[in-house]
Amino acid sequence: MKVTVQSKTGIAEYESDPSDNLLYAGLKQGLGLPYECATGTCGTCRARVMEGEVSLAWDEAPGLAYVKRAKNEVLLCQAHAQGDCVLRVPAKVEPLHETVNIPADFSGRIDTVLRLTHDVIHFEVQLDRSMSFAAGQFAAISCEDVVGARAYSMVNYAESTDRLVFVVKRKPGGRFSDWLFETEVSGKALRILGPLGRATFRPEESKNFVCIAGGSGVAGMMSIAQHATRNGYLKSYTGHIYFGVRTMEDCFYTAEFAEQVRRSDGNLEVTIALSNEEPPQPTHPAHPEIRLATGFVHEVAARDMAGRYDNMVGFVAGPPPMVDGALRMLIMEARLPAEFIRYDKFG
Ligand code: FES
Repeated sequence: MKVTVQSKTGIAEYESDPSDNLLYAGLKQGLGLPYECATGTCGTCRARVMEGEVSLAWDEAPGLAYVKRAKNEVLLCQAHAQGDCVLRVPAKVEPLHETVNIPADFSGRIDTVLRLTHDVIHFEVQLDRSMSFAAGQFAAISCEDVVGARAYSMVNYAESTDRLVFVVKRKPGGRFSDWLFETEVSGKALRILGPLGRATFRPEESKNFVCIAGGSGVAGMMSIAQHATRNGYLKSYTGHIYFGVRTMEDCFYTAEFAEQVRRSDGNLEVTIALSNEEPPQPTHPAHPEIRLATGFVHEVAARDMAGRYDNMVGFVAGPPPMVDGALRMLIMEARLPAEFIRYDKFG
């Protein structure tokens, strides 16, 4: 079926069939359609159906709050073409840049599952073939047992790999996280579309970096730390990671971050901010490479980073209130230009 897109940059065309949603079909053909979450929550992929018929996969997607249904608007990541159609997208739509990894469909199987805390689970997926992705990117994951796809950032980093690592914090009523926590998921098959997302670490920019993350938002920061501690990047630049959790019991990936700090020639700082208790001492009792602080993570980062924003790129991920606070700080206090503030909206 032919999809015609009218946008601020002119007309583009691609093919889609009813099994694919209109966003994924376009991205897989290298068309840079607008999106953030790719899973129905943010509203960024809003488009108006000018001709033809489309069906909606998830009629209660939170992102539908941003569309005018009376004007025939839909979310591309939830809409499936039922025939040839014409869409109007209120954004620029250009071919994806040649340096961007074009997303594709993969299948995979969960083969490792670890409970990291009472509400955080780590799982690893063996893919049917290798995927290339940038540190900070995510994938849309779906399984037979749960309706719809979920977006999770990769924890690991490799230029090309057939293994992906994810971490998920349990959400009250979250069907996918309930499935992970309550089912024997080892061996379960997954469908994966990736890589997705533009909040990427780009070593060619030659910048220091600051990462501010809450909960499982730390996934992309772990991937960035792994990339940055490879091939000597941190010999020339500094990295500052702030990871917010409630209490010492909620900390995870401390051994892994300590390992990255040891590999960094002293140029990577990792600070865990505890929002609900005072730390027992200034550094982690088992991993003294990790610093401890008290307060909300964006406030801890603001105190600690004051006056140290030279040549900086910032990454933010986590629950929406934390993301908003961190973005305010990077804009108002760090005064970073928009192109050097990167975040993904999953919430
Ligand atoms: Fe479709 Fe977020 S990209 S709702």
